[in-house]
Amino acid sequence: MEKYISLKDLEEAALAILPKNARDYYKSGATDEYTLAENRRAFQRLRICPKCLVGLTSCNLSTTILGEKVSMPLGISPTAMQRMAHPEGETANARAAQANGVIYTLSTIATSSIEEVAKAAPNAIKWFQLYIYNDREVTRTLLTRAEKAGFKAIALTVDTPLFGLRRADIRNKFTLPKHLKLANFDGQLATKINSTEDSSGLSNVDNLLDKSLTWNEIKWLKSITKLPIVAKGILRSDDAVRAIEAGCDGILVSNHGARQLDGVPSTIEVLPEIVEAVKNYNVEVYLDGGVTTGTDIYKALALGAKMVFVGRPAIWGLAVGGEAGVDRMLNILRQELQNTVQIAGTPTIADITKDMVRHESTYSR
Ligand code: FNR
Repeated sequence: MEKYISLKDLEEAALAILPKNARDYYKSGATDEYTLAENRRAFQRLRICPKCLVGLTSCNLSTTILGEKVSMPLGISPTAMQRMAHPEGETANARAAQANGVIYTLSTIATSSIEEVAKAAPNAIKWFQLYIYNDREVTRTLLTRAEKAGFKAIALTVDTPLFGLRRADIRNKFTLPKHLKLANFDGQLATKINSTEDSSGLSNVDNLLDKSLTWNEIKWLKSITKLPIVAKGILRSDDAVRAIEAGCDGILVSNHGARQLDGVPSTIEVLPEIVEAVKNYNVEVYLDGGVTTGTDIYKALALGAKMVFVGRPAIWGLAVGGEAGVDRMLNILRQELQNTVQIAGTPTIADITKDMVRHESTYSR
């Protein structure tokens, strides 16, 4: 794995290996993919302002997230159907997270079940991503299973009343390869969801999502689980406040990897206003979307994120080398972040304050 020096190397290698159907599914964003590009470009518009001669003696990246100690402020976002990337899919990804002391989030739409992932990585800090279904019993069962299997939090995806339009998937008539299944659904529901007769890809799952959902449903979720709930997919400060007032314990600023609605802001752009809006509440704010370097992580931390997640980079690692590939991805980011915090003169996470980053426009006045 040593030949891969950057996440870009892993991405290029993965794209060269993956079959077209899976490659397009993983890499696509919604419609024109403007926001997909913006998620990256917005990081590039920020500058780090290093401090000199701070008397560097040590460097510590560890922090706590919802009370759990993690080795660095980086976690893995939920991405669906990881066995298309590697035969061990989600289980390999979770094992790499376990070995690295970082959070792994399992997608509901996974090709490995909650129980398989728990067995493969019993000591990983695992979160479960949830959609709320029309059939509340399906939701309740998933929650109960995740809780029983030792998952530590629920990432409730709030940006998906229905799935975004991804043109490549429409062109490819994307479906899950026949040898794989959506492993978290059982009984009659499984037959319905895993039916391959429907060539419109995930429309079987899409039809099950409750489009009438409001923030009132958080109260119901809280009544059936003790796990903290993180609202995943927040892009507005008023929604962040609504989520917290409805009972959510964390905010994940996310545009779903630019896969839902094209033309929405990049996540790093909206992070400061969301952090500001919730500063008087006792909640953690996280971010995902377009993070591919240690300096990206650093910029998000400076602008107030407690932790940053990556989605696609873990898939590229998986495709290239299974657990070893994800391990390589995490190690590259760890090394880059370590290097950044030291050269920037802020060797602990607490040192990374807002003044460490400026927008490029500050310099062009
Ligand atoms: C996703 N994402 C996602 N989110 C979610 O809540 N449930 C899911 O099942 C999925 N599935 C999924 C599949 C694929 C292929 C991608 C790329 C993304 C969104 C994901 O959790 C995360 O928000 C983004 O991936 C973050 O952006 P980057 O790191 O991929 O740029």
